[in-house]
Amino acid sequence: MSSLELLYEVDGLPAFDLPEELATLYGGRFGLAPPLVYANFVETLDGVVAIRSEPRTNRIVSGNSETDRFVMGLLRACADVVLLGSGTLRGSPASVWTAERAYPAAADAFAELRSRLGLPPEPALAVLTASGSLDPAHPALERGAVVLTTEQGAERCRGRLASAVEVVPLPGETAVDPGAAVAFLRERGHRTILSEAGPHVFGSLLAAGLVDELFLTVSPLLAGRSEPGGRLGLVEGEELLPGRAAPARLLGVRRDDAHLFLRYGISSPA
Ligand SMILES: NC(=O)c1ccc[n+]([C@@H]2O[C@H](COP(=O)([O-])OP(=O)(O)OC[C@H]3O[C@@H](n4cnc5c(N)ncnc54)[C@H](OP(=O)(O)O)[C@@H]3O)[C@@H](O)[C@H]2O)c1
Repeated sequence: MSSLELLYEVDGLPAFDLPEELATLYGGRFGLAPPLVYANFVETLDGVVAIRSEPRTNRIVSGNSETDRFVMGLLRACADVVLLGSGTLRGSPASVWTAERAYPAAADAFAELRSRLGLPPEPALAVLTASGSLDPAHPALERGAVVLTTEQGAERCRGRLASAVEVVPLPGETAVDPGAAVAFLRERGHRTILSEAGPHVFGSLLAAGLVDELFLTVSPLLAGRSEPGGRLGLVEGEELLPGRAAPARLLGVRRDDAHLFLRYGISSPA
């Protein structure tokens, strides 16, 4: 891939001591200011983030962008924990959420960055499910994860998941209380929480005022829609406008050809 082209960035963003390869590919400095919850998405020009019928929906939405995979890897490389919802786990039955898996060509540089940041070799994984309906054979669960669920969900998981999976019941019935989930991860010492959850969990985090930053790749593709529910927008399951406006602050804009890489600061909805 070629390096990202920096088009705009606000002054005063945090800057990590990046390995040179990462700084070159990213087109300059990058950093985060923990503690924070930061989310990463790729969407089409018309705002579609997932085509539910397609197994490799992220690749389709991103137009198979290597640069998007690199940014995903960089964001994972800085995370203490990656947070998913069960819908995202189900949608990617062969994935594991590591920096190396996102962009193998920079694996050594990602490992070096994690070491410079004092992080373990891989981020932890946390999965939100109210129902407890998870595939025990999913490779990401077999490697070890914490499942944040409800009392009923914990009951359903009992004895079904690999021994490397910890099941934690939290408040909530049809959805896990997002505030309790983030508080639990913080109590575990996770200061940088990367949400790679889909639009339902993202909506619930957003509505609860828990998201600090959004990294949004806009691909130059138009997805279109016909039947409701088949294609998901960036936020699902929550309505914010007109009453709950929370204008995002533009922190940065990068470009790779016709793909845009946007970084926003997010405030709590009113
Ligand atoms: N384009 C991108 O950048 C991007 C990023 C991420 C995901 N995706 C795609 O998005 C699709 C999945 O979307 P999704 O919205 O279904 O996934 P999701 O938000 O990751 O998972 C949603 C599920 O999480 C569980 N859940 C537990 N607590 C919740 C809470 N507080 N709020 C909301 N949900 C909660 C529910 O399932 P239970 O029945 O288990 O309780 C719910 O159905 C996949 O195709 C995935 O590949 C795309």
